[in-house]
Amino acid sequence: MIELIDISKTYPGSEVPAVDNFSLEIKEGELVVLVGPSGCGKTTILKMINRLIEPTSGTIAISGDPIDAVAPHQLRRGIGYVIQQVGLFPHKTVGQNMTTVPELLDWSKADIDSRRAELIELVKLDPGFLDRYPSELSGGQRQRVGVARALAADPPILLMDEPFAAVDPIVRAHLQDVLIALQNRLHKTIVLVTHDIDEAIKLGDRIAILSNGGHLEQYAPPREILRDPANLFVADFLGTDRGIKRLSLIPVSAIDLDRGPVVQRGASAAEVTAATAKYGTDWFAVGSDTELDGWASIADLGVGGVDEVKLEPFRTLLSPESTLKDALDAVVSSHTSVAAIFDGGRFLGMVTAEAISAEILR
Ligand SMILES: Nc1ncnc2c1ncn2[C@@H]1O[C@H](COP(=O)(O)OP(=O)(O)OP(=O)(O)O)[C@@H](O)[C@H]1O
Ligand SMILES: [Mg+2]
Repeated sequence: MIELIDISKTYPGSEVPAVDNFSLEIKEGELVVLVGPSGCGKTTILKMINRLIEPTSGTIAISGDPIDAVAPHQLRRGIGYVIQQVGLFPHKTVGQNMTTVPELLDWSKADIDSRRAELIELVKLDPGFLDRYPSELSGGQRQRVGVARALAADPPILLMDEPFAAVDPIVRAHLQDVLIALQNRLHKTIVLVTHDIDEAIKLGDRIAILSNGGHLEQYAPPREILRDPANLFVADFLGTDRGIKRLSLIPVSAIDLDRGPVVQRGASAAEVTAATAKYGTDWFAVGSDTELDGWASIADLGVGGVDEVKLEPFRTLLSPESTLKDALDAVVSSHTSVAAIFDGGRFLGMVTAEAISAEILR
């Protein structure tokens, strides 16, 4: 969909190129994240795609056509742009801001009104906001209006420059979820810039990791980058918790679950001993094939069998859609050192620290 071939940009008066021989290919419907330290050329690359900046050399093509073959204003009709720092027009209302492009394109008033209603719903803002001014919104709300404005004329391509940088981590996580939901529905081709590696991992189908001068260090899906960083720069950039980050991308359903030391209700002390010996635990759980009543320590077991023991509940209940990171958290914060997995109320099995570690090393 978008091809950048040997792109360089040297700003006037500068000795060194801001972007030096950069190439990248972005597929249709893909969300690609450009990530890298401040000043490495991310914004410059993004602005070359919609010709706000002209490259010194190299070519950019969209759907096979070089972008300098059409006039910039024509090109930009097909490219929504969310700029760094939002940049809403302060004297226009939220509604007017959102439909800036349709107005420039002379859509009818009826079409513009109905598009406004769609857009405000799309970014999950209350329609009551339409008549407010940007100064009357929170930072997170303004960012959503910025996203709505970029989507107004339904462009196939969306360029987003640090769209959620200015908000606190909770609002940011929420806006990321809004974008994911939106992308699942709209399937735009999106190039998003951030310097937050966690944001890149959460949002990107593929991540391009850049160093100074727009040097492409690695371009791959998040799981691959986390499993196999191309070099020290990438490994450093990913941080020391690379393994844990990777766990956040793997669902519990991806690994084989252990049944664990579970005995049936009414089991004898001998059956408990057999079960705990098999799993090497000092605790056991009681249940049926599909239910789990709770667990107890072997030390609490008398000669009377399991029905006389007071059971502790499993406190963290995870589902197959939970991530291995959630499972690890349950493992390290429970006395049993396992995470119990349920589908609805049905007990599926347990995740152990060994199983998580085996998956990381795979
Ligand atoms: N108009 C300009 N004139 C001269 N140099 C510029 C201009 N714009 C950017 N630069 C330089 O080009 C380099 C890349 O800038 P760019 O804005 O692309 O970085 P960035 O990766 O987006 O950084 P940040 O994460 O801080 O937004 C920087 O060294 C910057 O100082
Ligand atoms: Mg920038």
